[in-house]
Amino acid sequence: PASAQLTPGGEVLVSGVGLDEAADRFGTPLYVLDEAEVRARAQAYRRALPHAEVLYAAKAFLCSAMADWVAEEGLGLDVCSAGELRLATAAGFPAQRILLHGNAKTPEELRLARRLRVGRIVIDGMAEIPRLAALAIADVPQRVLIRVVPGIAAGHHSAVRTGVDGQKFGFRIAGGDAAEAISRTLAQSSLELVGLHCHLGSQITELEPYLDALDRLVELLAQVRDRHGRQLPELDLGGGHGVRYLPQDRELDPAEFATAVTGRLKARCEAHGLAVPRLIVEPGRAIVAPAGVAVYRVLSVKHTADGRTFAAVDGGMSDNPRPALYGSAYDVRLIGRASHAPTAVIDVVGRHCEAGDVLVHDAQLPADLRAGDLLAVPAAGAYQLSMASGYNLVGRPAVVAVRDGRARLLIRRETVEDFRAREVGR
Ligand code: LLP
Repeated sequence: PASAQLTPGGEVLVSGVGLDEAADRFGTPLYVLDEAEVRARAQAYRRALPHAEVLYAAKAFLCSAMADWVAEEGLGLDVCSAGELRLATAAGFPAQRILLHGNAKTPEELRLARRLRVGRIVIDGMAEIPRLAALAIADVPQRVLIRVVPGIAAGHHSAVRTGVDGQKFGFRIAGGDAAEAISRTLAQSSLELVGLHCHLGSQITELEPYLDALDRLVELLAQVRDRHGRQLPELDLGGGHGVRYLPQDRELDPAEFATAVTGRLKARCEAHGLAVPRLIVEPGRAIVAPAGVAVYRVLSVKHTADGRTFAAVDGGMSDNPRPALYGSAYDVRLIGRASHAPTAVIDVVGRHCEAGDVLVHDAQLPADLRAGDLLAVPAAGAYQLSMASGYNLVGRPAVVAVRDGRARLLIRRETVEDFRAREVGR
């Protein structure tokens, strides 16, 4: 992780806490979150975009501590379910600073959002417009944005490319769906249309897709002005900012993003004679991925006759489904002891009953890797815990926060008793 220090003895310190020490104390698999790194990343966005609204995308990872950290750093929150919404508000996150998304919001979610007075709701389908309008609370119009599809392909895998036609999210700009949704929303007195929203995809490392999307959204803003005489005050460019998983990866720098996007926004608005809308961004991964590290213990090392080596660890696709789902690549390091052995090509595999349960393909690890060793996987803070499953009843890992040389348990390890506790019949 960006924040980890490697000592000559092979020890890896995160915020002054040794990962091997944390593994001994809390067990493995263990997810370690560097609180200072989360805060520093949130601050970097605030500094880069002082006039914009930065919403942390809770789907990347959410727990009460995480909600506290981003709230304290002045970020808002993007949620996409009643679960995220309830957890955040129960933790004390101000509802006014929350934006609710989703292509399939339940009637209960919409009611809850209205009751809690969430700041903004993103409309994602025609049927939602009258449904949400009917939940009017006297004299308090719901601020809404319309999610549009700019027709731009970006993101690390087709499964996360939401800016293109032919996928489930948003209203297409091409063909007029977006224009129709805007007209229908403007016709509802209990809804206050404050802007347009788009989300292109995830793990985007280039600026061009954002600039292209911005051009199309500003054009649409100009159309709205021409057709309805209304200048919408907000423009939400979604999230998707890429981080470094491998040393050679590129990270989307918040300051570069800010300079390019605010410059382009100003220029395009001037060209159309529009007032510059307030920008909203929704980074998830970029706030939390580099602040997390997953620690596993090696359970067995298998050398096969055809020359392959498999190091099996005590976690796998139930705590990190990303390699199996998207073919995502990760870095991995031996921690807890120094090794002077030459490196070997080793597949780091999980403990689940599928051959596809490979965490790191062709990792470069010391050839003397053995059972009992600890492995650390950096950049593990996003879309791992939040997508973890109960597969094989292995249970989801414990989560620890480190700060100033001290570690504290945030989420305890899931046990079979947790599974059994949900069983109410047989
Ligand atoms: N806003 C919206 C509307 C989104 O749908 C997402 C992510 C974000 C913001 C935050 O995107 P981020 O900045 O974290 O890239 N499970 C996949 C990623 C799915 C992203 C879904 N939407 C993965 O592990 O790569």
